Amino acid sequence: MNILFLSSEVAPFAKTGGLGDVAAALPRQLHKNGHDVRLFLPLYSRIDTAKFAFRKVESLKPWRVNLGSHSYEVAVFAARLPGSELDVFFLHCPALYGRQALYSSDGDEHLRFLVLSHAALQACQQWRFKPDVVHCNDWQTALVPLMLKTRYAWDEQVFGRTKSVLTIHNLNYQGRFPSSTLPDTGMLESASLFHQDQLKEGLINHLLHGILYANAITTVSPTYAREIQGSEYGVGLDGFLRGRGRAVLGILNGVDYDEWSPQVDKHLPVHFGPDNLGPKEQMKEALLRRVRLPYVPGVPLFGIVSRLAGQKGFELLDSFMPRLLDRERMQLVVLGNGERRLARMFFDWQRRFRTQVHFHNGFSNELAHWIEAGSDFFVMPSRYEPCGLNQMYSLKYGTVPIVRRTGGLNDTVELWNPRAQRGTGIVFDTYDSQGLRWAMGTALDVYKDRAAYRRLQQNGMAQDFSWQHQAKLYEQLYRAI
Ligand code: ADP
Ligand code: GLC
Repeated sequence: MNILFLSSEVAPFAKTGGLGDVAAALPRQLHKNGHDVRLFLPLYSRIDTAKFAFRKVESLKPWRVNLGSHSYEVAVFAARLPGSELDVFFLHCPALYGRQALYSSDGDEHLRFLVLSHAALQACQQWRFKPDVVHCNDWQTALVPLMLKTRYAWDEQVFGRTKSVLTIHNLNYQGRFPSSTLPDTGMLESASLFHQDQLKEGLINHLLHGILYANAITTVSPTYAREIQGSEYGVGLDGFLRGRGRAVLGILNGVDYDEWSPQVDKHLPVHFGPDNLGPKEQMKEALLRRVRLPYVPGVPLFGIVSRLAGQKGFELLDSFMPRLLDRERMQLVVLGNGERRLARMFFDWQRRFRTQVHFHNGFSNELAHWIEAGSDFFVMPSRYEPCGLNQMYSLKYGTVPIVRRTGGLNDTVELWNPRAQRGTGIVFDTYDSQGLRWAMGTALDVYKDRAAYRRLQQNGMAQDFSWQHQAKLYEQLYRAI
């Protein structure tokens, strides 16, 4: 199949969270399976072009993308996606992508991704590349299905058989912009196809239009697919999702085990596996040395790697963690950046519990691997979680996940049952401090029972969420629509 894949992040080039991992691993697998995949993202100025051997794509002449009163000069560069033979295409447009961070709250944020969307379709026209599927991700490229039905519908030779898939990685980011931006969408002539009531109220919601017009809408776990069709998790879009009926489905994300396995992880100083768990303790020692905490055998280490956002549920720790740290022999290593109030909380614990808590406020892929590998438990008490990758990584590294039963966490972690010796993690149900307090206490107890803890680790390490399998589900979907 011919697949056009659009994303605002692709690891290792540009990543703020799980989308970057998924938008690299899925296209990589699809390409391995023999499909012609054209993957586009912006050439953000933060991308290290020297590191990846970028070259200009000669088959595409630089051109202008015209949207309303705006006109942007664009060109396309390419670089090899590590671990594959796939070339990734980067849209060069310094006026839009020469910013501090991947995302901004600048007045032209909508244009940054509208230009990406149009340019990718226009590149297909230049190449005469006829996509069977355009796979869009999140609000940034969610207007593409409508573009195909309007501005590009005349080009039947290229887009005559093109179907669209929208994957929602997080329903809370919807891309809501004032209706005065309608001309910037490049679809002013099709104003009647936008949601009319919202337009009158002064709003264009990009994600909503993807939900209305894509041939299929997927989200990244079956549980989240169910949850977002109810009002509690629907963020105002549940009615529209229900309205699409069977066009909405959940496909669990996979894990790129070439990147995230304790046997082959290139970021680690030591390696281990389910039949050889000894070196994991050395890994823990190395991690603690690196973050300057003392290593004491038998003291459990809890790890966190995360965006610091309300979604992730860390505020639940606030009410009991200082007391727990005071009372229990336990340690905590946190890597994260984001909201300041959460950073303050972790800094505060670091200051008060100098031998027990380390907080790295920032983004570090290498440290993320070390924490996954060196911790005994991984804490992820999310308020909501479309899929979540870290708990799946943790399982592979024998790092027992502590999660709340929601979204992809529900689909990937099974509560430990000591009697049956089954289960892969500690799972709590209700989103409150009591629930998480119970889960942390249970973890401390399980850790003291060496045989039980070892079994729990091994159950987790035996899990397999590889992309080989998950990519097939996307292929089936592409064929079915
Ligand atoms: P989300 O996409 O909601 O942030 P996921 O669990 O799906 O959550 O994916 C998060 C990804 O981002 C993981 O690969 C994780 O290791 C990485 N990550 C998150 N925060 C950081 C950080 N501060 N430093 C390095 N990697 C991080
Ligand atoms: C989003 C979600 C996360 C998911 C990731 C990749 O960032 O918050 O749960 O794993 O996308 O799909």
